[in-house]
Amino acid sequence: MFSHARYKHRVFYSVKALSTTKPGGTQDSSEAVGAPLKHFTAEELLQYDGTDANGAVYVAIKGVVFDVTDNRKAYEPGQGYAIFAGRDASRALGLMSLKKKDAVPNLDGLEEKQIDVLDNWVKFYQKKYMIMGTVGPNASPGRLPAIATAETKPSE
Ligand code: HEM
Repeated sequence: MFSHARYKHRVFYSVKALSTTKPGGTQDSSEAVGAPLKHFTAEELLQYDGTDANGAVYVAIKGVVFDVTDNRKAYEPGQGYAIFAGRDASRALGLMSLKKKDAVPNLDGLEEKQIDVLDNWVKFYQKKYMIMGTVGPNASPGRLPAIATAETKPSE
């Protein structure tokens, strides 16, 4: 199968806030550095779907909003990953789906393997892109959603 693991990524510093997230919980964003985080409604986030050729493009995963503008050619309307733009597309990323109906935050019914796929996408976006804020009812600028990745799981 096609592997996404071989890409070279730039590393940003804004990951720190998430890397200390406690399992199953939320955390204080005071550890976050860089630009202040904004809390978006789903409707506000839609403004960043790439329709505006000069505007920023954002993609959210698990309630965390990433700025993908640098790679906007992949996310603009009509492009391969346009369904993710301006949305929390967690479900689609977990399912490896490019169907518009899957570009939603709801993870109901996903298998453990699919959650692992999603968490790998989280790692990918964390390494490559800046975090701009949060979206959805379970997050606010002061309460980054827990993003469980291999690095953030407690050592057992
Ligand atoms: C045969 C199928 C596929 C091929 C050949 C393919 C190819 C690629 C390539 C070449 C990139 C790197 C783009 C770049 O360098 O900017 C990429 C990134 C990506 N792919 Fe795929 N892909 C495939 C299927 C999928 C599917 C089914 C999904 C659904 C989740 C997906 C989601 C993504 C995402 C989210 C990125 C990251 C884009 C970014 O860097 O911001 N891909 N893919």
